[in-house]
Amino acid sequence: MNVFRMPVSAVALAGVALLITGAAAQPASAHPKPVPLRALAAGTGVRIGTAVDMAALADDTTYRRTTAREFNSVTAENVMKWESVEPSRGTYDWQPADDLVRSARAHGQAVRGHTLVWHSQLPGWLTTGVADGSIGATELRGILRNHITTEVKRYKGRIYQWDVVNEVFEEDGSLRNSIWLQQLGPSYIEDAFRWAHAADPKAKLFLNDYNVEGINAKSTAYYDLAKRLRSKGVPVQGFGIQGHLAIQYGFPGQVAENLARFEKLGMQTAFTEVDVRMILPVDEEKLATQATYFRGLLDACVQARRCTSFTVWGFSDKYSWVPGVFDGQGAATLMNEEFARKPAFAAVGEGLAEGA
Ligand code: G3I
Repeated sequence: MNVFRMPVSAVALAGVALLITGAAAQPASAHPKPVPLRALAAGTGVRIGTAVDMAALADDTTYRRTTAREFNSVTAENVMKWESVEPSRGTYDWQPADDLVRSARAHGQAVRGHTLVWHSQLPGWLTTGVADGSIGATELRGILRNHITTEVKRYKGRIYQWDVVNEVFEEDGSLRNSIWLQQLGPSYIEDAFRWAHAADPKAKLFLNDYNVEGINAKSTAYYDLAKRLRSKGVPVQGFGIQGHLAIQYGFPGQVAENLARFEKLGMQTAFTEVDVRMILPVDEEKLATQATYFRGLLDACVQARRCTSFTVWGFSDKYSWVPGVFDGQGAATLMNEEFARKPAFAAVGEGLAEGA
């Protein structure tokens, strides 16, 4: 049971379940609008979130309305990443990230910060400088400290969870051989948490990665790291599980047990980037399987004691990153390209309603 769960009467629940599944055969007048996901989530203690594509938010009215209506948490899909905020050294472009934070505030949404330290989407001036030796290790450490401090301070008090380090382990549980590890050694991870905490002591600070839904070598590496850091007093408070699944690979095992072991360390957990792709073309059976995968992760979150947010990595296939990266795959989100709700959308709604 989630500690924040509030009692909801069985009668209300039955009504909600009827509304979210929707009775297809009913005439329009007897077919009330579905209850928004964020309203269903209100009784669970879990925020329901989405990654936001800022170009779509600006240009696409349906996208904008759906973001505001369905979600009470938002994550910048790209605009808080280093290459976006500091494209040339010392020159910052906060505009799109500021726009997201402002939009979130206007719509009563909390903001997840993504992401401070990553091996990807680094600005060219930084990767080139490290590669040609013009930026040495001491200077790089100062640059990293400055980046974290500047960005976290800018949004101090307005970001409830930060993905401080993203994707720092390989599948076998060894540390990723990134420029951070190569230049600074493994202590860059604890430094990053300490610097972020100093800049905003109230934000919850997360580790974040993919392929760590269940118990495996990679998630165990995170568990060992979190345990070690917390025993040293390093301010790491959350474990973020991205949740990029694919129906052709099966549903991960031991998800609940995985959440539980992190929570036992006193940490929060969160699903931070959920989508479930499939090999195209779409058919009904694949969509039904996809719905069970979304529901499986959501149920694990709702039933965990300290799983605080469940974020989907975009809600419409129109803007999903998946087809651009996985050839022949797609349809990974809750709505199709025309914003029609898939079975997965109803499954998430039902999971929230039952979890309330
Ligand atoms: O903004 C430029 C645009 O100006 C240019 O014309 C265009 C040409 O390719 O590229 C645009 O940038 C793209 C950016 O998305 C914004 O659309 C980048 O090429 C593209 O690589 C980038 O992809 C993002 C990816 O992270 C980068 O690795 C995806 O949108 C984003 O969904 C994805 O998100 C990651 C999480 O941060 C971490 N976990 C995995 C997840 C999926 O890969």
